[in-house]
This record gives sequence, C-alpha cells and structure tokens, in this order.
Amino acid sequence: MTALAINQLVNLEAYPIADLESPARQALVEEMGRIYARDGVCLMPGFLTAVAVEMMAEEAKNASVGAYHCDDTHNVYLEHDDTGLPADHPRRQRQVTRLDVVGCDQLAHDGSLWGLYGWDPLRDFIGAVLGYEDFHRFADPIGAMTINVMNEGDGHGWHYDEAMFTVSVMLQAPEAGGKFEYVRGLRDSGDDNYNRLGSVLAGRATDTTTIPITPGALLLFGGRNLLHRVTGVEGSRTRFIATLCYRDMPGVTNTPAVRELFYGRSEPLRSVVAW
Ligand SMILES: [Fe+2]
Repeated sequence: MTALAINQLVNLEAYPIADLESPARQALVEEMGRIYARDGVCLMPGFLTAVAVEMMAEEAKNASVGAYHCDDTHNVYLEHDDTGLPADHPRRQRQVTRLDVVGCDQLAHDGSLWGLYGWDPLRDFIGAVLGYEDFHRFADPIGAMTINVMNEGDGHGWHYDEAMFTVSVMLQAPEAGGKFEYVRGLRDSGDDNYNRLGSVLAGRATDTTTIPITPGALLLFGGRNLLHRVTGVEGSRTRFIATLCYRDMPGVTNTPAVRELFYGRSEPLRSVVAW
C-alpha cells in the first residue's frame, strides 16, 4: 500500500502546520502549548483525514499478526517490588499491563504511518508546542513508532512513562473501554504525593479525567509526570493506537535489554531507519 500525499493524510485546514512561517501555525502552537502546560495533555481531534484513519488502521491490522504479546505486572514507576516497604504502600501496588506491540520495523516504509511520522513539519510542530527548537524523532529502529494493539481484556495499568512525552495517534476504538485516563497535577517535581496516589490506586479518586478513543485524533501527553492508564478493553473490535516517539537529542535509542522487554527482541528486522 502506497502512502497518500501528506495533505491527504493530515487535516491541514484545521491544523495548518505545514507552513512554518504562517501566523495560523504560530497561533495553533501557542494555543496547544498553553493547554499542554496547564494539563500535561493536549488533545487534537480530527487531526487526520478519514481516509488516513482508514489506511493506517488497515496497516496496523495487517502488521498486528506479527505483534509481540506483552503481559506484565508492575508498579506505577515500572519498578520491581520493594518488599522493604509496607504492603499497602502505593509503591507496592501492582498494576497489570496486557497488550500486543508492533515495532516500526514491522510497518512498510512506504505506508501512511511512516509517511506521517517521517514528515518533518509534524516533528517540528510537536517540538514547538513543547518549547523545543531542536527536536528529533526517536532513533530506535523498533521503538521509534509502535502500534499498540488491544483486544478484549487487555489494558495498561496506572503508570508513569520512561519517556518525557509521547504522541498517540488514535486509529480504531474498541466497542467499549480502552479509554485514556489520567490524573492532573499529581506528580510535581520531587513530590510523589503518596496520599493522593494511594487513593487513585484504590479506586477512590474522583478527580481523574478520561479521554475516549476518537479515530483521527492526536494526543500529546507528558507521560513521565502524568499518572495515566488505559482502561480495560471490552468487545470484539480491536483498539489500535500508533505511538510516535520524540526526543530532545538526536540519535537516542533504547538499549537492547529494553527492546527485549518491550518488543520481545533486541534486533530489529531492518537496521536502517528512514531518516
Ligand atoms: Fe504510558
């Protein structure tokens, strides 16, 4: 399947990001930047065209036959259990994560997903919203862009990401569940706020926010400092999300050990990344 031109993939009328000098782009950068700074999350509905969603969901579905099945329990910091802490400590509460993951080396380089991720104005726009002048695609040949595949019973327990920020591209919603849920302002630098964390993990919190999967939307979130999860997927329709990764330094990759953990293999199918 050959990728469409970028103006057929991205809704450039609503998101005029192609022209770096345009006042409309600057206004959008400022608006999204304000929202991200306030919430740690910035949702951009209707970013992709309907035809892009259709093509990308098909690419994701085709590649998902080779996905790695991840079934893990972890705490919110993705650490091993610390038996030195009391059993009811928030650091000891186990979370379950179950999903299938497709690496970008399993996606066709001439497909629409690669077309979107490899398009420099998108990288530059995300960097500008986050306030970086020097901004880069993640250079990992497996993990730079991944597809998260979730079927009934799958989900991603409460956690903080290792990466500072991530872009999720919503491709296909399940029949129910599979929502992105987050807690604003819980983790300030140097303070893990265990009281509030404990009430979230115990299901007592009333101040969480959920974002349903809306195909075509982009979601930028600062996962390292934003407690978040994906609620359990229900029904027979698969949930597909593309995850686009960026860094503030060039040439950054995962270690082979991390690749083994997340993707079940340390060696990519292809060694050359397309940029
Ligand atoms: Fe995450």
